[in-house]
Amino acid sequence: MHRYAQKLHHLLRSLLLLSLITATSAQAAEKIDLIIDTDPGADDVVALLFALASPEELNIRALTTVAGNVRLDKTSRNARLAREWAGREEVPVYAGAPKPLMRTPIYAENIHGKEGLSGVTVHEPKKGLAEGNAVNYLIDTLKKAKPHSITIAMLGPQTNLALALIQEPEIVQGIKEVVIMGGAHFNGGNITPVAEFNLFADPQAAEVVLKSGVKLTYLPLDVTHKILTSDARLKQIAALNNHAGKIVGDILNEYVKGDMEHYGIPGGPVHDATVIAYLLKPELFTGRSVNVAIDSREGITFGQTVVDWYDGLKAPKNAFWVENGDAQGFFDLLTQRLARLK
Ligand code: RIB
Ligand code: CA
Repeated sequence: MHRYAQKLHHLLRSLLLLSLITATSAQAAEKIDLIIDTDPGADDVVALLFALASPEELNIRALTTVAGNVRLDKTSRNARLAREWAGREEVPVYAGAPKPLMRTPIYAENIHGKEGLSGVTVHEPKKGLAEGNAVNYLIDTLKKAKPHSITIAMLGPQTNLALALIQEPEIVQGIKEVVIMGGAHFNGGNITPVAEFNLFADPQAAEVVLKSGVKLTYLPLDVTHKILTSDARLKQIAALNNHAGKIVGDILNEYVKGDMEHYGIPGGPVHDATVIAYLLKPELFTGRSVNVAIDSREGITFGQTVVDWYDGLKAPKNAFWVENGDAQGFFDLLTQRLARLK
């Protein structure tokens, strides 16, 4: 009997071990079901190439475009360009809102260039837009998605998601979390002394998203301005000797000039790409849960994100606010993923 009991013990132990390994590997392999909402935009294109080069972790359902850095026709063309450069033309691109919810539209051609893509020559990509508007795509997809299964990377003004939430509030059921490039607290603004561009471009939309109660993570200027290009980091990308490295090098060399001059800093931020790095390797970043309020009143603080970092108001924590990141870790990961592209 003793030998039998021993064999049974070993068998049960091996089965337990096997089930543990299977569960862990299944968890590790669990992909992020992702929609990227974007206003390309130089740093958006870098973020898109970064994401499209990471199919093991990111199941990119679609790119949805919005007016922001430049007008909608150009942000939509640039999203299609990024898709073509990444060799991922199976990913649909849906064009969305041509203007903000309420305010008069603003653009950032002075930073991103007339075509919205500094440093490179654009062309009309072969593959066109998907049929239908991005807002309807968001509604249809999020309504029928498994509960809290879809992540949204928000790289521009939040107009598309806000319109979808206003039309069909129950779409929150399909949203796992929204990871937003936007806002500023410790850093101060880049459009006004207190407002960051994406929030300033449509604060009412950001308020709708904030009040929807979905899980929010903000990557504000507080962190993006700590993850700056340098000669060495740009050389690292150029040394890839592939088309993607060339494109990203040419874009960044031009794009960062504005911030370097404005802030008198030795390098420039790659704002939107930090959202993708956060999704791929959150351990590169640190932050805390805070209460965030958005000022959408006319006046000097229009578009400001008011962050209760020290919890003085004891208000509900409605967002995770990232305020630091590993700059070299970011560029190493970005370079490693760009190396996979043509
Ligand atoms: O403030 C930086 C943000 O505004 C980035 O998303 C950039 O692309 C612009 O949209
Ligand atoms: Ca952007």
